[in-house]
Amino acid sequence: MESKEVFAMPRIGDAAPEFKAVTTQGNIHFPNDYKGSWVILFSHPADFTPVCTSEFMTFATMEKQFEEANCKLVGLSVDGLYSHIAWLRTIKEKIEYKGMKDVEVKFPLIEDITMEVANKYGMLMPGESNTKAVRAVFFVDPKGIIRTIIYYPLSLGRNFDELYRVLIALKAADEFGVAMPADWRPGDDVIVPTAGSCGTAKERMESKGEMTCYDWFFCTKKLDKDEVMKKVLKK
Ligand code: BEZ
Repeated sequence: MESKEVFAMPRIGDAAPEFKAVTTQGNIHFPNDYKGSWVILFSHPADFTPVCTSEFMTFATMEKQFEEANCKLVGLSVDGLYSHIAWLRTIKEKIEYKGMKDVEVKFPLIEDITMEVANKYGMLMPGESNTKAVRAVFFVDPKGIIRTIIYYPLSLGRNFDELYRVLIALKAADEFGVAMPADWRPGDDVIVPTAGSCGTAKERMESKGEMTCYDWFFCTKKLDKDEVMKKVLKK
């Protein structure tokens, strides 16, 4: 009798599931090959499709920016290697889009025709498609722990400025021991840890010199943009 391995979807805080794969840049062993750097593992539905093409051109154009923040990119779809190679060549040789042209995708693109990795990472959502991965994004930290997961449907291209914002926010939260409020961007005020880790409500309200407290459970402080970027780039 044929047995099919059933995977639980990984969650934030889990160790990133391990796999070996063939990519457009050679074989990889994930996440082991990426220990010591951040890595974004992302899936796309199919090669030679328009939304995916716009995404790859955008992500490839921003690769250096992610690299400077010590973050590598790894793509995946359930297409085969020769399809990947042909699609990336077409992008480089033929597509000019929104001022981007001659775009070379240098990061690895995993072939996953068996859907092993897509299954392991919960990238297949049958209600959306039985045959294609959705647009999943996994942020994995230098210790191999999943720190953020974002999903988009087939019909919606990702916002790559948002993915960069998430990366910088995660790294800054770690570095400075703070949390980030809604819509935070470098230079905005950050949230000071809540009571328990930081004294009583009375102490917090009394020591609010450098903090702005909206109530006992909600205090922010300034965090300079240059200080953030100096700490998070190349770390
Ligand atoms: C696209 O990337 O354009 C796409 C892929 C699969 C389904 C729908 C759109």
